[in-house]
Amino acid sequence: MDKLIITGGTRLSGELRISGAKNAALPILAATLLSDTPVSVGNIPHLHDITTSMELLGRMGVHLVVDEKMNIEVDSSTITSYEAPYELVRTMRASILVLGPLLARFGEAHVSLPGGCAIGTRPVDIHINGLIKMGADITVEGGVIHAKAVRLKGCRLLLEQITVTGTENLLMAATLAEGTTIIENAAKEPEVTDLAYFLNAMGAKISGIGTNVLVIEGVERLGADKLHYDILPDRIETGTYLIAAAITGGKVKLKNTRPDILDAVLEKLVEAGAEITTGEDWIELDMHGKKPKAVSLRTAPYPAFPTDMQAQFIAMNCVAEGVGIVTETIFENRFMHVQELQRMGADIKLESNTAICTGVKKLTGAPVMSTDLRASASLVIAALVAEGSTLVDRVYHIDRGYDHIEEKLSQIGATIRRVSK
Ligand code: EPU
Repeated sequence: MDKLIITGGTRLSGELRISGAKNAALPILAATLLSDTPVSVGNIPHLHDITTSMELLGRMGVHLVVDEKMNIEVDSSTITSYEAPYELVRTMRASILVLGPLLARFGEAHVSLPGGCAIGTRPVDIHINGLIKMGADITVEGGVIHAKAVRLKGCRLLLEQITVTGTENLLMAATLAEGTTIIENAAKEPEVTDLAYFLNAMGAKISGIGTNVLVIEGVERLGADKLHYDILPDRIETGTYLIAAAITGGKVKLKNTRPDILDAVLEKLVEAGAEITTGEDWIELDMHGKKPKAVSLRTAPYPAFPTDMQAQFIAMNCVAEGVGIVTETIFENRFMHVQELQRMGADIKLESNTAICTGVKKLTGAPVMSTDLRASASLVIAALVAEGSTLVDRVYHIDRGYDHIEEKLSQIGATIRRVSK
């Protein structure tokens, strides 16, 4: 199992290129199942979750060709199976995203239930109930969702809670349904918006994109000649490298990114004492050698502060000046990093869904364990300022969502290496 060894103490500085967004690439790869012509998708990040997605499509008989620039051409006309098996779903919950497209296009889907995960119970009832409301016949047996429909029917769906992949599944299903579907209380995360633009590029008729109400007029078929679509940049990868530089008092310029989808994160970095300069597709952060100030925040659906950046800000608060109070409102158990940070000397108190962190003078390197993707990122960030070396175990969590993390961090001056054992 791979581990990362990080020696803290270097002030990061330099330039980096941000990869495509994992959480846009996954639904867009699933959405290629809706197209009856081959589709090419670009700016795909080099990640383990992408490999899993490709394996999932490949096992269904879908034909995939990847070039050296990570453009993926997908041709679903060769599909032979409508099944997402448990062995893949359990390693990547986002496999649930094939449910809507398979059902809408082929009238049948068999997808394993994802079950719980480290950050919470994460049910998929909103996905299932929405599809039932659209006329699908769904049973859950032996841990598998079996769904059938001759043709889904458009209807009004009021989502009980804002859900990102739930909105995406129902949005994809609605594109080929008969009549109009209105999704109210829809998620409007930039990745949902990117998926909607991709679907429209294939011929879907979606309006209200970027708002909480999506209106989808069903069409007979999807597919466009020679369609190539580039995924939007990863806002969470962007935020993670900004914090990595900030915690070390450094300066970094991130290219190929989108400052307009990072307002809540950039605001908090300014509050922490960073000077932020932006252009259309770049962000520069400069701490001028200063220590960050602790920030308080509360996670909530977009455009508010993203839960996927919560752990990284807690890492920064560990060595910041003052006390930062961080409240997690999306997932009930997303504080697994706290115990590991405490092992490095952090002063954090947990009170139900709130972490109260008092900045300490220094953290010390220790062996720590990754528990989920963003928790692992926070441990790497903390290690960058810890005295001595930190060994981060179970790096496969990081590889699910960070494209070449050790190479990118080395490029801006970090002392980090991967060991396999
Ligand atoms: N929920 C339900 N029922 C449902 C669906 C969701 O109760 O049917 C609840 C969840 O349990 C949670 C809340 O609704 O409490 C919001 O969860 P959501 O469905 O929005 O999360 P998700 O779609 O499973 C995506 C991202 C996550 C990100 C969340 C929140 C993808 C592939 N995953 O998950 O990304 O944290 O939205 O923004 O898009 C990550 O990248 O590290 C990651 C975990």
